[in-house]
Formats: sequence, C-alpha cells, structure tokens
Amino acid sequence: MVAQSTNSLPPEKVPQHVAMIMDGNGRWALQRGLPRLAGHKAGTENLRRIIRASVEFGVKYLTIYAFSTENWGRPPEEVQGLMFILQDVIDRELNELNREGVQLRHIGRLERLDPRIQKKVLKAIELTKNNTRLVVNVAFNYGGRDEIVCAIQKIINDGVAADAVTDELVNHYLFTAGVPDPDLIIRTSGELRVSNFLIWQAAYSEWYITPTYWPDFDKEEYRRALESFGNRDRRFGKVSSAELQENNA
Ligand code: FPP
Repeated sequence: MVAQSTNSLPPEKVPQHVAMIMDGNGRWALQRGLPRLAGHKAGTENLRRIIRASVEFGVKYLTIYAFSTENWGRPPEEVQGLMFILQDVIDRELNELNREGVQLRHIGRLERLDPRIQKKVLKAIELTKNNTRLVVNVAFNYGGRDEIVCAIQKIINDGVAADAVTDELVNHYLFTAGVPDPDLIIRTSGELRVSNFLIWQAAYSEWYITPTYWPDFDKEEYRRALESFGNRDRRFGKVSSAELQENNA
C-alpha cells in the first residue's frame, strides 16, 4: 500500500506567503482561569506546530505578528513575558529550525528592543540566512504605520526625487523588502480588524478570519484556510479572466 501524503493541497493553489495575526491567547487563558501569559505560552507551542505545517504544506513565507508597537501599553508583566518568550523561543528552537531549513527574519524596530534581545535576534538571522525551505518573518515591535513612517524618513534621507517614488521604491524601503506581499492573512479569535499589520503589503491579500483562539488553531484548520484560499478568484481590482473571455465572445 502506498503511504498517503499528508499534504493533499494542490501545490499551485498553495499561497506563497501567509501572514498570521495570532489573536486570542488572553481569552484562551481566561476561559481556563489561567493568567494571560499561560495563553501566550500555549500560543508559542502552537506556533511550533504551525511553522512545521507551513513547511509541509509548501508555504514559502510565513509572517507572524508577535508584538506590535501598541503592545507596549499592556501590563508590564505581560510585556516582560512576551520579551522573555521571544528569547526563549530562540534559545530552544533555533538549532532545530535551522536544521529544518527555516530562515528567520525580523520586521519592526529591532533597535528599540533590549540589546540582549537584539543580539539573539541578529544571531538567529545570521545563522539561518542561507536557508530556503521557509522564510519566517517575525513581526516584533512592529507597526504598519511605523514601518511606513520609517520608510518615508529613509527615502527623504537618501535624497530620492519626488517623481522617483514608485510602488517598487516604497517596497524597497519597507521592513519587508524582498518579500512578496502576503497572499493570505489569517486572523484568529474572530476580530474583524487589521490592527496595524502589513497595511501597505495587504492591499490585495485575501483574508481568513476564524473564531478559533490562536492556541487552538491547529493544522487541520490551517489546511481549511489554505483550501478556502485555493478556491478564491483573485482579481486584483480587475475582472476575472473567465468573465473577460465571456464578454469578448
Ligand atoms: C494576541 O493575543 C497575541 C499577542 C499579542 C502575542 C502573540 C504571541 C505569541 C503567539 C507567542 C509567540 C511569540 C513569539 C515572540 C515568537 P491577545 O493577548 O491580544 O489575546 P486576547 O485578545 O484574547 O486578549
């Protein structure tokens, strides 16, 4: 008997870049009478599974929203906990992720983080820079507006002429330079908002929003999200090719 492949998704329908707003950790913990940080820990465990599933499904870029520029306004123990989690994930997972061919990148204001965290993040980026199986962009101290402000400042500092400013040029100045726009953005916990995530890059992204809290968003639901994406007709502001043919017939 031939072993059945665990990946039943047609490769041509798998999004190249999936971005995730990993929401609902706090409510997941609250439901269980646990502190919010227990939700973030469970969310971190889930992230391991989702990274592995991304490799298996053939996704090439995964961007995860781990800490926003607005998250500094949370209670200090939660902020500290999230800072600890980032370092702990690097300490515990880096070698394994590297062995699996995962390239780690960071988007956001690294320079505004504790120097020890900066050092660990830079080490992880350096160690994995030649891996090609999956690129994981960790959005940490990231905000979409902040990213655009930062890009405008750099463009002005570089003395770029106004008429040389194009979509491509702006892309080049964003934290995500060189990364294709997200094809699919998944938001867990049912909230219907963008929350300052990839606001430039999401211009034509498809969305999948689920009421499931992030720690419970498993591989099967991930597969369903990718299947839903595979069945969509992306028109990028134009009309579908089928409709165009019909009109021209
Ligand atoms: C949003 O849920 C989640 C976050 C602000 C943090 C996400 C972090 C992880 C999943 C851990 C992985 C982290 C790293 C650094 C790799 P919420 O707390 O806003 O949930 P709530 O809306 O239910 O309160």
